[in-house]
Amino acid sequence: MAASKEQVLAALAKVPTPGGAALPEARVLSDIVVSDGKVFFSITVDAAAVKAWEPVRKAAEDAVRAVPGVQSALVALTAERAAGSVNAGPPQPQAGAPRRAAHPADQGQPGVPGVEAVIAVASGKGGVGKSTTAVNLALGLRDLGLKVGVLDADIYGPSMPKLLAITEKPQTIGGTRLKPIDRYGLTVMSIGFLIDEETPMIWRGPMVMSAITQMLREVEWGKLDVMVVDMPPGTGDAQLTMAQQVPLKGAVIVSTPQDLALIDARRGVSMFKRVNVPVLGVVENMSYFLCPHCGERSDIFGYGGAHKEADRLGVPFLGEVPLHMTIREKSDAGLPVVATEPDGPHAKIYRDIAAKVWEQIKPGAAGGRAAPKIVIEA
Ligand SMILES: Nc1ncnc2c1ncn2[C@@H]1O[C@H](COP(=O)(O)OP(=O)(O)OP(=O)(O)O)[C@@H](O)[C@H]1O
Ligand SMILES: [Mg+2]
Repeated sequence: MAASKEQVLAALAKVPTPGGAALPEARVLSDIVVSDGKVFFSITVDAAAVKAWEPVRKAAEDAVRAVPGVQSALVALTAERAAGSVNAGPPQPQAGAPRRAAHPADQGQPGVPGVEAVIAVASGKGGVGKSTTAVNLALGLRDLGLKVGVLDADIYGPSMPKLLAITEKPQTIGGTRLKPIDRYGLTVMSIGFLIDEETPMIWRGPMVMSAITQMLREVEWGKLDVMVVDMPPGTGDAQLTMAQQVPLKGAVIVSTPQDLALIDARRGVSMFKRVNVPVLGVVENMSYFLCPHCGERSDIFGYGGAHKEADRLGVPFLGEVPLHMTIREKSDAGLPVVATEPDGPHAKIYRDIAAKVWEQIKPGAAGGRAAPKIVIEA
């Protein structure tokens, strides 16, 4: 029989903490996700206390693994920022603010101040053009007259420094808050602006949530109609936790037409459904090949797979972006096609996609198609 959240909490009640309280009472737990025998959650503590809490994290993981029906458990320890330093961790909770973030569906997740809607661009697997889509979608939204931000949440492989040719470091404001970078009228923040590529992965793993929280809440985003979040690829625990902790209004799934990628796209859709985030639709990227010389179209991966799959999954199909040399060259040179060839055919495709997305998230819209609520198994 599958384990329940109550069983997990009961097991955690036997785990002592440095302050003496039982773990569920210590006000350090995130929402606990129990799904298909997998359990995950995070423990958030003051940066100075991380060492003392590491044995607790381990004990919590062991206790949860011992619950009948649990196949795997992942407990992340995340550190809160020590006062006065900008780069050491996530913000201290404001007086009276909830210490733990829950999903918007639980009404516990605070939004990002000044930001009307946060949407994720995600994919089941890497390299399908998610970051390229995120940037050009953001620019398409900008062309609708909206104020748009881009948050690069791909902590393992941040893309925005390259896609937008940003080399400068963000300035701090008042020593504690970061000023995002402006490019092509977009307000941009990336973990890639803060850490150099040599920073070891081991730092990145447990710090993922801290860094994301920090980028959401310690950056002066200003007033935005939409924030586009470029998610890390995949549908593992890290992505699921992130999808849960960012206050998302909806998600756009990017897929290529190959069968394999579609299976991954399906996983992407179900991940967001699981955390009750509406799926705004699927974009088929590298949909067909447009010859840069003769303009002839070839459906080298077969045609229409993603559209069919979107219909099957009951989510909107947002559009097809061709595999085209210009898109790749422009992307990789930091000159996204919607900004630099606004009158070209590719820009139009991205603007159409942006319009379909905006229709679903604009104030007063019903939002994306509601996903069935299957958040946590009982
Ligand atoms: N429609 C397209 N036509 C041609 N090249 C494309 C297209 N979309 C993306 N690319 C290229 O494919 C490569 C991967 O794209 P991108 O970095 O956007 O993918 P991703 O899904 O974000 O990858 P990762 O999983 O590594 O984050 C890049 O070199 C990009 O320029
Ligand atoms: Mg990417």
